[in-house]
Amino acid sequence: MIVVLDFGGQFAHLIVRRIKDVGANAEILPYHASVEEIKKRKPQGIILSGGPAAITGKNAIFPDLRLFDLQLPVLGICYGEQLIAWHYGGGLATRGDQRQYGKEMMKMAADSDLFKGLEKEEQVWMSHGDAVTTLPEGFEVTGTTKKCPVAAFENKARKLYGVQFHPEVAHTKNGSRMLANFVFGICKAKKDYSLKGLDRKLINEVREEVGKEGVLIAVSGGVDSLVTAALLNQAIADQLYAVFIDTGLMRKGEVEETESFFRKMGFRHFEVVDASKSFLGKLEGVMDPEQKRKIIGHTFIEVFEKKAKELGKRTGRGKKANIRFLAQGTIYPDRIESAQASKAADKIKSHHNLTLPEKMDLKLLEPLKDLYKDEVRELGEMLGLPKKRVWRQPFPGPGLAIRILGEVTPERVRIVREADAIFREEIAKAGLEEKIWQYFAALLPVKAVGVMADERTYEYIISLRAVTSKDGMTADWAKIPFAVLEKISTRISNDVKGVNRVVYDVSQKPPATIEYE
Ligand code: XMP
Repeated sequence: MIVVLDFGGQFAHLIVRRIKDVGANAEILPYHASVEEIKKRKPQGIILSGGPAAITGKNAIFPDLRLFDLQLPVLGICYGEQLIAWHYGGGLATRGDQRQYGKEMMKMAADSDLFKGLEKEEQVWMSHGDAVTTLPEGFEVTGTTKKCPVAAFENKARKLYGVQFHPEVAHTKNGSRMLANFVFGICKAKKDYSLKGLDRKLINEVREEVGKEGVLIAVSGGVDSLVTAALLNQAIADQLYAVFIDTGLMRKGEVEETESFFRKMGFRHFEVVDASKSFLGKLEGVMDPEQKRKIIGHTFIEVFEKKAKELGKRTGRGKKANIRFLAQGTIYPDRIESAQASKAADKIKSHHNLTLPEKMDLKLLEPLKDLYKDEVRELGEMLGLPKKRVWRQPFPGPGLAIRILGEVTPERVRIVREADAIFREEIAKAGLEEKIWQYFAALLPVKAVGVMADERTYEYIISLRAVTSKDGMTADWAKIPFAVLEKISTRISNDVKGVNRVVYDVSQKPPATIEYE
């Protein structure tokens, strides 16, 4: 077991994910967890994550420094590295505006157990403002890059390791190997983490928790709610009530396809609620992305509450549902994002998953709450869901609304929906579906001049976004062949009324995000 202290870095929970990937157990704790709290986990090592604060700045945050007296191996990443340097009396420099960002080659400067089995030069990914300039006594430099003389350091005798780069992100090519070296080689942790038997375990837990009472769930067609619903369907089918809310912001064909899928899966109680008018009405005139997200969230809750009441009241032939639980597909990163652990984190976008209000007077049932996305997918397969379904690309809760920049109007929904359908169709035809992690069309709310059949046009611009990624935390733009892009562009500008230009988005995340709002 490895304890990861979260200093608010975007990638803190990715560290846990990667450690579990290599087969050891890990748990994230807030940066200020006391040494007593840490000791309760009986860890073999501690990792200090990155974070937006600067050790040299006023906003510096500190852990319970007694952790350095536990004599456990410690690995500091980015902010964590600087913390180790600071604690042991090293020198730090603030780079201010000169933030270092992106891929770099790191040269190994000494034989380190952390880099065992790696090349003399490795690609690493940096994102930091401060840097370590002078080493504390007893430490040596183990890696350097052109811009960063202390990219990695260690005190082997004390088992203290620091890296300025992020081994947990996929852009650090052999980052998982480095983490495995730390976890198994240095900490001597056991290989005791696996998903075997998880489906049975969760089914039993759900049965025990729910007893004979009714459970309500809102499904979206997305993976998390689908796997939750499938799990509950196997555990307590007769007591499960699934509701699918059509927000009017779904992709082309999505509502019909989801409905037929749920019907085929044999859910006993499944209903579709068409609330598109309500959603589109409330979004009229709203420009701000956060405002849009909030309105969609609230409307969703309203519609859902109404349905829940109706189910509870239903009499006559349709039996009254004794609903006492509300099931949600909350997964581990959702909880961590909204919990104490990330108090130190910068808010980037509103929390993705809705928490329905307490006044519904229902107990929350969140069977996936300790799982990461790819574990959810594996669980989905264990439950017998089709591979294609559980590995499909993510689609955000607020739907097309956050792919229409600025105001959402029915016309813009139509345009982006049609363009997106063409994009998806052509990607499938080109056999690229599995190579690209996520791809979609977005509408830029500016108009440009064009010409069609000798006439001047003045229409919207469609931006195509396609990314490769491991987990959505970082992403690179997909290198779609020009011939495929050409076909997509021609089809969209010819067939989608209201568009005369198509652009391809070549931004990485970070600094961009995958979605536009
Ligand atoms: P960003 O845009 O933050 O997205 O780079 C990362 C991943 O999260 C998805 N996403 C959402 N998913 N509700 C969701 O269920 C949301 O509000 C939401 N916003 C972004 C996004 O599609 C990408 O896969």
